[in-house]
Amino acid sequence: MHLEKRILVTGGAGFVGSHLCERLVASGAHVICADNFFTGTRANVEQLLNHRRFELVRHDVTFPLYVEVDEIFNLACPASPIHYQHDPVQTTKTSVHGAINMLGLAKRVRAKILQASTSEVYGDPVVHPQPEEYWGNVNPIGIRSCYDEGKRCAETLFFDYLRQHHLRIKVARIFNTYGPRMHPNDGRVVSNFVVRALQDQDLVVYGDGLQTRSFCYVDDLVEALIRLMSSDDSVTGPINLGNPGEFTMLELARLVIEMTGSRSKITHGPKPADDPRQRRPNIERAGQVLGWKPRTDLVTGLRATIAYFDDLLSRNTQHAFQEAAE
Ligand SMILES: NC(=O)c1ccc[n+]([C@@H]2O[C@H](COP(=O)([O-])OP(=O)(O)OC[C@H]3O[C@@H](n4cnc5c(N)ncnc54)[C@H](O)[C@@H]3O)[C@@H](O)[C@H]2O)c1
Repeated sequence: MHLEKRILVTGGAGFVGSHLCERLVASGAHVICADNFFTGTRANVEQLLNHRRFELVRHDVTFPLYVEVDEIFNLACPASPIHYQHDPVQTTKTSVHGAINMLGLAKRVRAKILQASTSEVYGDPVVHPQPEEYWGNVNPIGIRSCYDEGKRCAETLFFDYLRQHHLRIKVARIFNTYGPRMHPNDGRVVSNFVVRALQDQDLVVYGDGLQTRSFCYVDDLVEALIRLMSSDDSVTGPINLGNPGEFTMLELARLVIEMTGSRSKITHGPKPADDPRQRRPNIERAGQVLGWKPRTDLVTGLRATIAYFDDLLSRNTQHAFQEAAE
């Protein structure tokens, strides 16, 4: 018999999902983590494997899942372009069939359900920074569309299940997030700079390096997801979650070099055609509705991220690094 709250986390062995599982188990919940290990690993949830309130299930969300739960966090989906473009058809299926299957489950067992959506639903925005009311500017046939349109369709399904079946839904639009357990080879700027700096390899910034990005530390994001899930049923989102602090790529590269004590140099590479000048979330709604704002500054978050990658690289270098990179 279960007295604790039972929570399903799809994609729970991934970067964000593993931190979320940890927090939920620590809060006293019984957590079922369902993952097909495409980008996630058992190593990410190793510390939970022997916990009596944690279950790890190998499952692909494009197939139905039958479990008795009170809440569902639907995070399953590769998040970095390198990974989601590897098998674009599977990426769309993961978002769309995955949403249908998890919404179907939520309907059957009357669970509350949260979707991890993305700032990419805004596409190549003409409004800066983007409020939740902005409908976005997405190319439906490009190489990023499997991710962007898959997530947009998942949002549509969530709101149709709300209108048609009165499900309790929550939609979070997540902006760039970083921290320990990011995939070391996912091509994202924070992991890329940290891993290269730890190996004394040059850090390549595109163009003049004055374009800005904003980064949210994973603990702050997890706090927001938990607050959103426990918010009043009238709060459905979509709701932007991210850290509005802006840093140029040059600033980030210098900071990483300084904090790692690296001998890396900064070099300049050609600017990709679609490299935006600025990316910054508007999180006013999250402040009003959830009373949430990010608390971790970049130096603090980077310190933990660097320590993670340093350990990954030095612990039996080859094996550990490759396993996390697979
Ligand atoms: N990290 C970010 O900056 C960011 C930004 C916006 C949105 N998000 C969203 O947050 C969620 C988590 O992202 P992340 O950064 O932790 O990525 P991640 O790649 O580390 O995690 C995704 C997890 O989903 C699993 N997965 C993929 N396809 C699956 C399938 N068909 N069935 C079951 N499991 C599957 C992967 O194995 C992995 O464990 C994703 O939905 C992503 O789109 C993340």
